[in-house]
Amino acid sequence: MQSTPSIRPLCTIPADVRCAQDYETLATKFIAGPSYAYIAGGSGRDLTVAANRAAFDAHAVTPRLLRNLGTGSTRLRLLDEDLSHPLLLAPMALQRLVHPLGEMETARGAAAAEACMVVSTLASTDIGELAWQTGGRCWFQLYFQPRRAATQALVQRAEAAGCTAVVATLDAAVQAPSLNALRAGFTMPADVHPVNVDATGGAQDPATAPGRSRIFDGYMRHAPGRRDLEWLLGAASVPVLAKGVLHPDDAVALKRLGVAGIIVSNHGGRSLDGAPASLTVLPAIRDAVGDDYPLLLDSGIRSGADVFKALALGADAVLVGRLQMYALSVAGGLGVAHMIKLLREEGCTSDFWDCEK
Ligand code: FNR
Repeated sequence: MQSTPSIRPLCTIPADVRCAQDYETLATKFIAGPSYAYIAGGSGRDLTVAANRAAFDAHAVTPRLLRNLGTGSTRLRLLDEDLSHPLLLAPMALQRLVHPLGEMETARGAAAAEACMVVSTLASTDIGELAWQTGGRCWFQLYFQPRRAATQALVQRAEAAGCTAVVATLDAAVQAPSLNALRAGFTMPADVHPVNVDATGGAQDPATAPGRSRIFDGYMRHAPGRRDLEWLLGAASVPVLAKGVLHPDDAVALKRLGVAGIIVSNHGGRSLDGAPASLTVLPAIRDAVGDDYPLLLDSGIRSGADVFKALALGADAVLVGRLQMYALSVAGGLGVAHMIKLLREEGCTSDFWDCEK
């Protein structure tokens, strides 16, 4: 059994973090090797992890001159909520893996940075305590459970806690493990649990009986289908978004079903290895759903320039995944807030430019 990291998170922002991605490098000193491999890895051979980064790097940004720059702002309105900026924290499971207080610290950072936190079904902290800590900017990410009653209990718990939207993740019915994490010998520490699933009676693995296939009798049989989504749309009293969309036809079908918004995502390369980069498919999905439909993107965001490119190619907002875990491991909630601040400011203001003026 793997132990939790030996280096405690800092109580200050480290002086040597100059850009958001520096947290990725620094986190190797704060997260135990096998856990880092688990977080950084994608599924299989990491082809999609690499594709996500390559897609961002392949886009150049051509500057234009003599434009009116006096009216710029990062503010936006999304699903009838006013947001200070288009950066959300993606749902990330079991954050006590990298910080003793886990999601509570992330929530503190989210509140300080005025970022909406999307709390995972597999959070290792009670959703009620978390939603309060975010200061009200909180959505709930739903993994459908094998039993409808458990799914319903999760949604009710999230709504009672004050979550203002439900994000149904549809792309992770079956996940191939990361080969890097397997080779590093990663196992989840015994003291890190999905406490909200435990509390609502959600089943983890329905097919462990001898002679039954975990894939065919388990994960695939319980994969969410159209009926499950229709049920959720009727049962939830808050807007429902769908996460994990990579095809324009799926996007259009989801919009027609009544889904309030779509998150273009390949799960940070952790679902189907070989799936296209989210950024690559984004323009076609924007064309398919039209200009006014809420469209978000994640997978591969590491800098303010990446955020700019995603917005330029059709996203209304983006979700930040691994950078959040890395910042959390280094400096807890302070680190998370700092990482978001850096993403907001990258490319426009910095101490350096202030000095030069
Ligand atoms: C995830 N992701 C994820 N997605 C989700 O819907 N529910 C979850 O519980 C998790 N948990 C999770 C844990 C870890 C360790 C990782 C790396 C990812 C996927 C996540 O929400 C998001 O889609 C990606 O992380 C975005 O890619 P980047 O920003 O990490 O490159």
